[in-house]
Amino acid sequence: MGEAYWGVLIITVDSVPALQIARTMGAKAVETASSRDEILEAVALFAREHVLSKSEFRPGESHVPVSGRVLRPHDIAALVDASLDGWLTSGPRTELFERQIARRLGVRSALMVNSGSSANLLAVSALTSPLLGSRKLIEGDEVITPALGFPTTLNPILQNGLRPVLVDVQLGTYAPQVEEIEAAIGPRTRAVIAAHTLGNPYDADSLAKLCKARGIWLIEDNCDALGSTLNGAPTGSFGDLSTLSFYPAHHITTGEGGMVAFNSPKLRRPLESFRDWGRACYCPPRRGRHV
Ligand SMILES: Cc1ncc(COP(=O)(O)O)c(C=O)c1O
Repeated sequence: MGEAYWGVLIITVDSVPALQIARTMGAKAVETASSRDEILEAVALFAREHVLSKSEFRPGESHVPVSGRVLRPHDIAALVDASLDGWLTSGPRTELFERQIARRLGVRSALMVNSGSSANLLAVSALTSPLLGSRKLIEGDEVITPALGFPTTLNPILQNGLRPVLVDVQLGTYAPQVEEIEAAIGPRTRAVIAAHTLGNPYDADSLAKLCKARGIWLIEDNCDALGSTLNGAPTGSFGDLSTLSFYPAHHITTGEGGMVAFNSPKLRRPLESFRDWGRACYCPPRRGRHV
């Protein structure tokens, strides 16, 4: 947890909601608050008293729900802080978050989207871009994926007119084995997409080497596994592309949210183009001109 980077609060800045909240609380002292710091302090106070559980979260001690958010007062204050920018779409905070995630994974770049499912759809769709020349996926190409997994790991294969080829997973870890993936490779195999289910890494290291040697794209669905490591490296850093979900069931949350991480600069334009309505844009939203 920490700062919230993707606040989706529908408010008007002019009404200064923290002051209204403070009035509701009867905290007269903050009615005159003029600086953002004072407003955020009031919000954190209100969140502590009225929004969040009273029991303090203690890392290593407190119960962590298997699904659901654990928020602290400064998280709520960060949501309001983002809202007070008056910037409702992705902007500087999103770019900072993208850079931080890329650094954390040890990859060159990351692009924010609205969910982990969208991240998977974007990752697979980007591989159909003509910008990738002979490496682009075309209708009827085969994509290997585990038979057991989250629906939106598999759905983007169908959505793009590609053919899923299913491999089994191991009991206990729910991870696919590289040998089974290798055995499933045929003349039309062009990509593999597989999730590190419930944070259990499969052998993405060996799989990445196999895929590279055979000219096959590897997408790691890392939505369940931010923080997992394999041979000392973060999951999500082995494939050509990897995806994350920031839904509250996962390790950190932006409410709804997801990300696609990648290394090759050649993937940036296809990814941005598919994410941003097909436009060929070389500048961030609300800045400069589109070409
Ligand atoms: C492995 C895996 N992939 C993709 C997703 C989809 O993420 P989202 O809920 O953000 O769409 C999930 C969600 O739990 C998941 O577990």
